[in-house]
Amino acid sequence: MTRMIPAVPLILAALTLVAGAAAAEDAEAPKDNITAAREENGRYYTADDVPTFKIKDGTVDWLTYSGFRRYHAECHVCHGPEGEGSSYAPALKNSAMTLDYYAFVDVVTNGRKKVNVAENSVMPAFGQNVNVMCYLDDIYVYLKARGSGELPRGRPAKKEPKSDAIRDAENACLGTN
Ligand code: HEC
Repeated sequence: MTRMIPAVPLILAALTLVAGAAAAEDAEAPKDNITAAREENGRYYTADDVPTFKIKDGTVDWLTYSGFRRYHAECHVCHGPEGEGSSYAPALKNSAMTLDYYAFVDVVTNGRKKVNVAENSVMPAFGQNVNVMCYLDDIYVYLKARGSGELPRGRPAKKEPKSDAIRDAENACLGTN
């Protein structure tokens, strides 16, 4: 089955390219919410310092790979496999495109409810769950890669190695060092 790739972010990216906005770190990088403008110890950031993915010749960055696994452990029961959505909860691959990073983090940390006569829709608060909070950027960049259309469905076959900095941050967050 072919799926529609959301066209709007790609169009925006193209327009930004035309406008010629340049990041100090990478003169080629457009100033949008997707394109990686800089790398820091295996993590990628946009020109606005928001976490993002990097896929080069089919090799995904570590966080995107990790996010694939974490998403399917914690989120897919409600949000459907691969960020595609379900009858109960929205397609997060689209949310990662439309919500900004901070709004995304806020909903996952604090949850959100729409409970009334017509609806019974509950997004749990994950603020106390280290298996989510320690991997929030991973899940976010994975969903952004899906929403951008750059990451096909399925487990990413090739990935960058996990950097020491990512390993240290993970251990510190989980309290396992
Ligand atoms: C128990 C089911 C359930 C689980 C598990 C769950 N969610 Fe949700 N989530 C929902 C529902 C339902 C909504 C819609 C809430 C509303 O109507 O406001 C939602 C909404 C969201 C939104 C807002 C989407 C938007 O476009 O406004 C984000 C972001 C989100 N969830 C992220 C996550 C992440 C990340 C995980 C895994 C760590 C997760 N959710 C796990 C049920 C769930």
